[in-house]
Amino acid sequence: MTHFLDIHKTDPADLAGIISQAREMKTARAGQPKGTLDADQPLAGHMVALIFEKPSTRTRVSFDVGVRQMGGQTMVLSGSDMQLGHGETIADTARVLSRYVDLIMMRTFEEDTLLEMAEYATVPVINGLTDRTHPCQIMADVMTFEEHSGPIKGKKVVWSGDGNNVFASFAHAAKQFEFDLVFTGPEPLDPEPALRGLYTTVRDPQEAVAGADLVVTDTWVSMHDPQSARERRHNQLRGYQVNDALMAHANDDALFMHCLPAHRDDEATSSVMDGPHSVIFDEAENRLHAQKAIMRYCLGV
Ligand code: CP
Ligand code: NVA
Repeated sequence: MTHFLDIHKTDPADLAGIISQAREMKTARAGQPKGTLDADQPLAGHMVALIFEKPSTRTRVSFDVGVRQMGGQTMVLSGSDMQLGHGETIADTARVLSRYVDLIMMRTFEEDTLLEMAEYATVPVINGLTDRTHPCQIMADVMTFEEHSGPIKGKKVVWSGDGNNVFASFAHAAKQFEFDLVFTGPEPLDPEPALRGLYTTVRDPQEAVAGADLVVTDTWVSMHDPQSARERRHNQLRGYQVNDALMAHANDDALFMHCLPAHRDDEATSSVMDGPHSVIFDEAENRLHAQKAIMRYCLGV
């Protein structure tokens, strides 16, 4: 069973293979209407369940479109509408869904929910974001970096802001893809201790960004964070906003990424998001191509 649960749980050669297939598949259908089927139909006859316990725009639409382009069928399920939200165990849900579908993509809160789904499912399970990680996003980000700037190996990536779930997948990717990752943010919002050793910390954002090939940020308040923390987080993170002054310390050809959705002029200014360094919409597009390759990898097709 080949799940895609986290970047550090997938072999570096397999990760490289996924990126390379994503790039080939993107090139092969360039310029065609989005609803055009791919020339190959590797998911023909396959049914895919997309389960969301949190909101989503990109993950939901890109997985759904990706499956259809490859000839498969989807059903999009909201956790609260399923018996899952009414007391049925994850293990039973996994065993039942495995009788109906060939692949499960799940976005949930607790990582344990995803891991239990993978343990009891008899079909592959893909992580569509948990409170701890977001591996599909970072596969798209690595693909996007390499499209614009060449191999990411040995490059300097700087994360400015909250040490959250998206950062965690960047940290896993730093090891697997062999790039240098710097975290800059306030100490109370440091990444979880389990990630130590995968990145270095520089508290001063301008010092951190010096020589960066890629600057990344994300929302200051994630979906799993209590809204009551909003004001405190804004006060803690204001100094880590990615703005033109901060980007001026990065390399001239540095890229700027944000997984989106963004809160414009909080974590990043519109001038950066819409400016010459920004590749945020290529990043969003590449969710589609990267995930198509991830699904093929999981299904072995
Ligand atoms: N970046 C991302 O995962 O976006 P959605 O929450 O819209 O899926
Ligand atoms: N860190 C954000 C990412 C959203 C795609 C969240 O978990 O809400």
